[in-house]
Amino acid sequence: MPEKVLVTREIPSAGLRVLEGFDVAVLSEGPPERGELLEAVRGVAGILSTVTETVDTELMDAAGGDLRVIANMAVGYDNVDLDAAGERGVVVTNTPEVLNETTADTAFMLLLAAARRLGEAERLLRSGGWDAWGPMQLTGPDVWGKKLGVVGFGRIGQALAHRARGFDMEVLYHDQYRNESAEQETGAQYLELEELLETADFISVHTPLTPETRHLIGPGELDLMKPTAILVNSSRGPVVDEAALADALEQGSIFAAGLDVYEEEPEVHPKLLELENVVLAPHIGSASIETRDKMAVLAAENLVAVLRGEDPTTPVDA
Ligand code: DGY
Repeated sequence: MPEKVLVTREIPSAGLRVLEGFDVAVLSEGPPERGELLEAVRGVAGILSTVTETVDTELMDAAGGDLRVIANMAVGYDNVDLDAAGERGVVVTNTPEVLNETTADTAFMLLLAAARRLGEAERLLRSGGWDAWGPMQLTGPDVWGKKLGVVGFGRIGQALAHRARGFDMEVLYHDQYRNESAEQETGAQYLELEELLETADFISVHTPLTPETRHLIGPGELDLMKPTAILVNSSRGPVVDEAALADALEQGSIFAAGLDVYEEEPEVHPKLLELENVVLAPHIGSASIETRDKMAVLAAENLVAVLRGEDPTTPVDA
């Protein structure tokens, strides 16, 4: 009898092909309803999950003793309870690397869009409110030649630094650890967080969500930024205090922001929805066709490896 595998959401078919030979159920197109998920997970050996599912004790217990692997189709895994998985001997895997360049593209896109007021400009045009070219209409700061501060200098942060160099930007970074080889490779300069926030024209956040990084950017950090600063977040919503950011944008204590992630997805702080100086994207950081194919394939390959008793390519270190 083939082992049972639950794929929580519809994923690219390239990933499903890797699972051929198993008894695969794909639960739903959108985020599955919790009760449905708890029911569908019973007796499975592997779960291929996404960031919209909370994979906790309750879900693992509902799956039962056959569960051996949770393959999360994301680089982030804050939706998975690693301790609970460890206690049950369940391997957790993620999909790093394959999305680095695409996610860095998204961060740079948000940076450009926030600086050059693209959302506001498009809303003006679509509303019929654009009557003529204007000498000072919708002007925003240049991006090229400015200072970019990258908070979290992992693989995605470094990929962003490469893009910034193409715009003749000076790249500053802060991370828990100084990375001298990445400094040499990207030309980035290490700064303490406070100094980076005071100095940078653009600040882009690329840290994973952990207890230490929750609200890493709060009222105090926003206060340190220049009134002309632009903040970009494409990592995890709770790394930035959304209410404090909305206040800072409303009061003009920073110039603008570009966001791809939110504290309570899919909810967005109501004030942000009203503000013109923030570009809002619906968590599309890795959403290129090629990258989503690669993420699905890697997640499926990880799952299959564990079920075959082999080492997965990208396990999450508990
Ligand atoms: C990730 O990979 O963690 C993204 O947020 C989902 O694409």
